[in-house]
Amino acid sequence: MPTPAIHIKDLHKNYAELKAVKGISFDIKQGEFFALLGQNGAGKSTTINILTGLSNKTSGTVKIFNSDVSQNYQSARKRIGLVPQEFNMDKFEIVEKFLDFNAGYFGIAKEQRKIRITHVLKELGLENKRHSKILMLSGGMKRRLLIARALLHDPDILILDEPTAGVDVESRRSIWETMQRFNKAGKTILLTTHYIEEAEELADRVAIIHHGKIIKIDTKQNIMQQFGKDLVTLHFKSKISKVPSEIMGQKPTLGSDKSSLQFIFDHQKFKQKDLLQTITKSKAESFEISKAKLEDIFVELTKGESKK
Ligand SMILES: Nc1ncnc2c1ncn2[C@@H]1O[C@H](COP(=O)(O)OP(=O)(O)OP(=O)(O)O)[C@@H](O)[C@H]1O
Ligand SMILES: [Mg+2]
Repeated sequence: MPTPAIHIKDLHKNYAELKAVKGISFDIKQGEFFALLGQNGAGKSTTINILTGLSNKTSGTVKIFNSDVSQNYQSARKRIGLVPQEFNMDKFEIVEKFLDFNAGYFGIAKEQRKIRITHVLKELGLENKRHSKILMLSGGMKRRLLIARALLHDPDILILDEPTAGVDVESRRSIWETMQRFNKAGKTILLTTHYIEEAEELADRVAIIHHGKIIKIDTKQNIMQQFGKDLVTLHFKSKISKVPSEIMGQKPTLGSDKSSLQFIFDHQKFKQKDLLQTITKSKAESFEISKAKLEDIFVELTKGESKK
């Protein structure tokens, strides 16, 4: 088995009495696009901060390409490009200077820095901001600048903590494209988000973190198949006089056109073949099945979970 890009084993983090991370374990393969999905306060940033040495773990093991982040911090850290959740930049600094300083921090030689800076600014669509003060950038541009900074030392893993929270559509597109290009080049991505659509659109594998525990981890397809509920719409030739009381364990609803019925198909309760039989029996003229949404699954998994 090749070395995982990220290895986390039985990780715990307490802030005094508060147990923020309660024994999480998972590996992220090299080249994987992995999303850590969770609500506010679930423990996403705490996990990321431990991975990147910003915070100390209470117990457990964390390795980056086999380097333990506690024992071998330097070699672990240089493989990672980190995009933190909070802006931590001097807003009076010039963009180019800010990047140059950070490149120096990662030991990039003076003559190489200009080339790298040009490259990352282009990558994030910020070439024309090179000589601007950071305070003149919009929120979305600042976020892109943080990503540019994370890419300066050509890391193997990009870790982004809610990179698109509160950014405009253009910045979001630019950020998504940058992540996808990075991943296509064979590199590893760990993304935290509470935007379900973001995980659904981008990730290969998803872990759902809730009150400091991983409550589900699987490929996106498996999660969606296993827990997904599809919305089935049946279209009829004419208006429906009587709505059937139950279809597939659900009360169907009448469409606004009065000639269609909708109901939820639960993959856990029924087989695909039962659904097809039901559709045939209904004598509907046509039907549609809309894609299972990760959102339904997320709501289902996190509802009624105790805070303990
Ligand atoms: N430095 C700290 N001191 C004390 N408690 C903290 C600290 N940082 C985080 N916490 C607490 O730990 C828990 C997990 O927080 P964390 O920031 O990891 O959540 P998150 O999943 O990143 O949430 P968000 O989506 O809001 O960023 C929360 O209850 C939070 O209040
Ligand atoms: Mg956070």
